[in-house]
Amino acid sequence: MSKLLNCLINKDCSRVPVWFMRQAGRYLPEFRKIRQLNQNFINLCLDSDLSSEITLQPIKRFDLDSAIIFSDILLVPYALGQNVDFSKNKSPKLSEFEVKTFLKVTEKEFTKILNPIYRAIEITRKRLDKSKSLISFIGAPWTLLIYMFDLKKENELKFETLEKEKTEILHVKEKLINFLCIHIRNQINAGSDVVQIFDSWAGLLPDENFNEFCLEPNKEIVEFCKKGKIPSICFPKGIKGKYETFNKIVKSEGINIDADVDPEWAKQKLKNVVLQGGLNPKFLLDPEEHIFKKATKYIETFKDTPYIFNLGHGLLPQTDPDKVRKLVNFYRNFK
Ligand code: CP3
Repeated sequence: MSKLLNCLINKDCSRVPVWFMRQAGRYLPEFRKIRQLNQNFINLCLDSDLSSEITLQPIKRFDLDSAIIFSDILLVPYALGQNVDFSKNKSPKLSEFEVKTFLKVTEKEFTKILNPIYRAIEITRKRLDKSKSLISFIGAPWTLLIYMFDLKKENELKFETLEKEKTEILHVKEKLINFLCIHIRNQINAGSDVVQIFDSWAGLLPDENFNEFCLEPNKEIVEFCKKGKIPSICFPKGIKGKYETFNKIVKSEGINIDADVDPEWAKQKLKNVVLQGGLNPKFLLDPEEHIFKKATKYIETFKDTPYIFNLGHGLLPQTDPDKVRKLVNFYRNFK
């Protein structure tokens, strides 16, 4: 059994696993080289051989305990009929949502479009050592709806748009959950062993909408996973004290904390769950001693509990890969 699964399922904290969100990506020169030759990001994600190669890049460099398949949460809206534009250094832009197109997409068509991701998982699983797990992922419904309905400006929710289009958005949410479960099942069948559910924009939700857009959909998806014995890790970023309610209601095997969550608080309040992450990725831009000092807080706090070492959000593109290596070594040699 992989270290990650042993931690998530058996709650074993003796073999502490480490991996990083966005461990494959722009901070790695070997990724930038491939990216430069492949300007269309969607096509790159749908090239099974390249996706597999990129997935394995950080494993080769740092011998991390888990690989996360190289893809994107926005491939799901893409497979449901929206164009996605990943222009350089800008927030991704989707073409206007058309409910008619969306409602016409069948499970068969959806699976066919995303098939290269499943192929990439198959190839990667064969190339990855058995001691390492292969993580697949989805965007949580709310975070995808933000992009699908263009519900934010900079980092603010367009509350009026949400109110105005709420009936349609709620309707779309239901079908979206169904497709996300299909995507999870397909990725697991292809050979991934854990799923991470990214709710990156959960923190934008007003309290009055938190239940219908964050708690309920995450719970429904986690229950789907449980029925299929699929371990899941949720990441409801930015929800502050509501992490406690989230954990009590959603009950995923793992929960990733963001950099605003105090590790001591998390240890006290988040029970019956394996904690993951927390360390601010910005600290990796600082001198080594500072990174180690900040990392020590998490390692010490969680030393007697099952904990997965990771970050409070993805690695930043300007991170020096050498600092990542040093952090991994520091963590592994920590006594
Ligand atoms: O290594 C890994 O973590 C696996 C690959 C992965 C990517 N995106 C590749 C990617 C994963 C897990 C994601 C998840 C994702 N995508 C999220 C949830 C996590 C988070 O960061 O909050 C979100 C919100 C997206 C949507 C998205 N994709 C945005 C906002 C952007 C542009 C800004 C940015 O952060 O880069 C992307 C593009 C993207 N996805 C890149 C990569 C490597 C950069 C593409 C490039 O090379 O230009």
